[in-house]
Amino acid sequence: MKPWPYPLWLAHRGAGKLAPENTLAAFRVGAGFGFRAFECDVKLSRDGEAFLLHDDTLERTTGGRGSPAGIDWADLATLDAGGWHSPPFAAEPLPRFAQIAAFCQANACMLNVEIKPCPGEEARTGTAVAHAAARLWAGALPPLLSSFKPEALAAARDAEPGLPRALLLDSLWEGWPEAAEALGVVAVITNWRWMDRALIQRLHAHGWRAMVYTVNDAAVAERLIADGIDGIITDAVDTLGPAAGRQPR
Ligand code: G3P
Ligand code: MG
Repeated sequence: MKPWPYPLWLAHRGAGKLAPENTLAAFRVGAGFGFRAFECDVKLSRDGEAFLLHDDTLERTTGGRGSPAGIDWADLATLDAGGWHSPPFAAEPLPRFAQIAAFCQANACMLNVEIKPCPGEEARTGTAVAHAAARLWAGALPPLLSSFKPEALAAARDAEPGLPRALLLDSLWEGWPEAAEALGVVAVITNWRWMDRALIQRLHAHGWRAMVYTVNDAAVAERLIADGIDGIITDAVDTLGPAAGRQPR
């Protein structure tokens, strides 16, 4: 297998349980607990700005309504993306992908960018996120681009073939190994329920790294580490990870 620059532990959606997910505040919390790698979800505004948001709609994690694919960035930038979590985070904005790139590089953190297109935006999002990542990390160790959507990963591959890619699997659907091969991935990231020693060894035999989401249980993490897992995405930044059991810095 090729050298692997990514740490074992990645904080999910920034550190999106103790702080509002996919905000800069969440990244700061994760870094405070010693995390040096993060996962986040990136999609596009109507006018093509890459920014962080998990859902296809704005309601759950912002004060806005509807699909962000129909709203320009200037309007998305005014939304409160923190008040839903708890009062101290009120008025926390949606971050642009560029701000997260700056934070990660300033803090020597690695990033796993989940390309999370709104429906129908798969190719457009994959292309734009890949071009943005190549520009924002020029000369630095690049982020790992992942997606559940093969169409988005194919667009990312065509736009920036040199950036590392990973296929996300919520199930082991028919044909996933062929898809991973065609997409030229360096890693496969599954729901932790499907990952075991046999699958890790199968992935490694292909030259692919094995990663899992979202592990919040120490016994599961210990089992996967013993089995040879390469990356673990977790919400439990205060109990699992590089500084487990220590006070945040
Ligand atoms: O990237 C892994 C994980 O984030 C996938 O699930 O729904 O939290 O984006 P979700
Ligand atoms: Mg995600």
